[in-house]
Amino acid sequence: MIILVTGGASGLGESITRRLAAGPDDVVYFTYYRAEQKAKQIEADFTNAFGLKCNFKDENDVARLKGAIGEFKPDVLINNAYFGSFMKAHFHKIPADDFLLEFKENVIPTLSITQAAIDCFRKKKRGKIITILTSALVNIPPAGAGTYVANKAYLGKMTKVWAAENSKHNITSNTVSPSFMLSAFTKDIDERIVDQVRESNPLKRLLTTQEVAETVAFLTNAPDHINGIDMLINAGSAIR
Ligand SMILES: NC(=O)c1ccc[n+]([C@@H]2O[C@H](COP(=O)([O-])OP(=O)(O)OC[C@H]3O[C@@H](n4cnc5c(N)ncnc54)[C@H](OP(=O)(O)O)[C@@H]3O)[C@@H](O)[C@H]2O)c1
Repeated sequence: MIILVTGGASGLGESITRRLAAGPDDVVYFTYYRAEQKAKQIEADFTNAFGLKCNFKDENDVARLKGAIGEFKPDVLINNAYFGSFMKAHFHKIPADDFLLEFKENVIPTLSITQAAIDCFRKKKRGKIITILTSALVNIPPAGAGTYVANKAYLGKMTKVWAAENSKHNITSNTVSPSFMLSAFTKDIDERIVDQVRESNPLKRLLTTQEVAETVAFLTNAPDHINGIDMLINAGSAIR
């Protein structure tokens, strides 16, 4: 398989890239922005992994990536990259322009890259889209995380549209919703809150990026009958 992982050189994305590149028959393309050193290290560790620099804030970079998708023709797209902050402020204190900016910089590039992948998958008559959401979509949204959770909810609904519109072309679209993991995205969260999250987890430990990568790897090989589903990874701390 030929796989594309966005944000695949750091955090959860790095674990996904490394897990998938360990399959010697697969070729893994991954995007990075700031994590150039990590990208080089992954390329040094795996002869079947190739980094592509792409800043989602730069329309030319995104257009270049879409062009590259048409050339290396992936079988699997993993929408992982997301930046901004998990916690901002309570909703009523956020300037309206901030909602638009975070949407424009994160959601629009993800939609645009997915369109290029679907064009390619339709020509190949097969393909898999796996999108990383968040377990914060289940139950009560964490205070201060409104922008993040709402953007993920928007993406979550779009992933269902991709599933519905493309199932007859052997294209699936599924999502993975992890609970809290230690990464650059969560590094500013107060240690006391991290301790509370750990204590409230039924397993009394935090989810690791490697565990999520294992779930993503499962979906890359899952039967086409698995379509439009969300894999919630939260140790059963909230059940829907
Ligand atoms: N950590 C958690 O608790 C948690 C829980 C649930 C879901 N998630 C989701 O998991 C995914 C990965 O997050 P993470 O925890 O691994 O956080 P992270 O380490 O901050 O990863 C964010 C990724 O986005 C990329 N990125 C940042 N700025 C970018 C830009 N301007 N253009 C393109 N890519 C850019 C980063 O690439 P570079 O490093 O190369 O810049 C990085 O690979 C996200 O979708 C996040 O919402 C995280």
